[in-house]
Amino acid sequence: MVFWIVLFPVIQGSMAVTVKNCSYPAVYSFGDSLSDVGNSIAAFPVQFANAELPPNGILFPTHAADRFCDGKLLIDFLAFGVRRRPIYPVLRGISPDFTYGVSFAASGGTARASSTWKRYAGFNSPFSLDVQFEWLERTKVRYSYYERQDPVIVVQSLPTLATLNSSLYVVYAGYQDYFFSLYDSVLSPRETLSIVGSVVDAVVELVENVIEFGGIDLLVINLPPLGCIPAMLTLFLESTPDSYDSRGCLKELNKITTAHNAQLGDAMITLRAKYPTANLYYGDLHGVYTDILSSPKSYNITQPLKACCGVGGYYNFDKKVTCGNTGVIGNEFVNLTETYCANPAGYLSWDGIHTSNALNKAVATDFLSGKHITPDGGLNCSPDFTFWDASF
Ligand SMILES: *[C@@H]1O[C@H](CO)[C@@H](O)[C@H](O)[C@H]1NC(C)=O
Ligand SMILES: *[C@@H]1O[C@H](CO)[C@@H](O)[C@H](O)[C@H]1NC(C)=O
Ligand SMILES: *[C@@H]1O[C@H](CO)[C@@H](O)[C@H](O)[C@H]1NC(C)=O
Ligand SMILES: *[C@@H]1O[C@H](CO)[C@@H](O)[C@H](O)[C@H]1NC(C)=O
Repeated sequence: MVFWIVLFPVIQGSMAVTVKNCSYPAVYSFGDSLSDVGNSIAAFPVQFANAELPPNGILFPTHAADRFCDGKLLIDFLAFGVRRRPIYPVLRGISPDFTYGVSFAASGGTARASSTWKRYAGFNSPFSLDVQFEWLERTKVRYSYYERQDPVIVVQSLPTLATLNSSLYVVYAGYQDYFFSLYDSVLSPRETLSIVGSVVDAVVELVENVIEFGGIDLLVINLPPLGCIPAMLTLFLESTPDSYDSRGCLKELNKITTAHNAQLGDAMITLRAKYPTANLYYGDLHGVYTDILSSPKSYNITQPLKACCGVGGYYNFDKKVTCGNTGVIGNEFVNLTETYCANPAGYLSWDGIHTSNALNKAVATDFLSGKHITPDGGLNCSPDFTFWDASF
């Protein structure tokens, strides 16, 4: 990853002319595996080992990527769009570059505090939003120690304390709470619907904490339709056509994310009234997702409901052997440690669980250029990813 440090200054010169400078000095990110750029693998190398192994990250420059994706996450495109730099995970011990912000998002991180999240026999991540916020506070403490050095002993490129109130804070959380409650059969769909209030409350609590901390510009992102995710379509397969909507998604599961997004949208309106000096953006990722499902061809999407990296069934997904793993299905040995679909750019889902580079890029493009984001105009930045997209 040291390559970034070498290569980016070279790239900057040639980009300055074409890309509008959105002038956020830094970006700070909160969330789960949809935004994790390497925190969980840093903390738990065994549990999250797949994140740095093929086929994860096959489209990511300087692979290994430490991301559950074929290429870049939404936060990668957003950070690049508003600052023209990637941001690094707070737990990265070796050669991080925090000049342009910090990522606190961690795979497995729930919106609700992990102590209140119902525990089960599998692996639980302790890195819920409350802990991620504590990491932000800690980051501020370190910035202040750094600025107070006299004499200067440690030299590192860091944002200044004074930029904390002009940076962009991105919150994209809650997917973990719903998805894995269902995936691990901890909750039924009906029970999952009943936790929506507490998940939204946890997101709102983080937003308020960040505003009280000093954040002014916040982007809060809603969730993709759960009933359109290949893993969910596979695990909750129904025999009655009535259970599916016109796009082929499961109506009952979509109710969960529809309720979440509606409550989150309402909460944003309340928060804007409560904190009139804050710029609270609401990113409608769900709207981008359903736009694409309605006219996949205009986005060059050929497989809107299938996993790119997976095996079997209607949706190219089987819980027994998921992307990055080997195992036996029926009598057959399956090896998904290198193989994936021929054209990842044609899929909305990378591994049946996490969204693809193609979806992430489409969402970032909209948010940066003012579509599917409120207030109108959105972040008003250039969605030119030419240099980010270049593989080297
Ligand atoms: C972009 O904004 C940053 C932070 O305000 C500033 O340091 C930099 O010089 C700007 N770059 C351009 C090309 O305007
Ligand atoms: C941000 O913080 C700096 C330093 O504490 C202060 O000078 C500046 O006025 C603040 N800006 C806003 C918009 O609150
Ligand atoms: C779709 O593919 C065509 C041909 O490769 C390309 O010109 C166009 O920009 C693509 N559209 C999107 C939304 O990616
Ligand atoms: C899976 O396939 C890869 C690539 O062909 C190979 O290197 C690896 O040894 C295989 N794994 C097993 C367990 O067979």
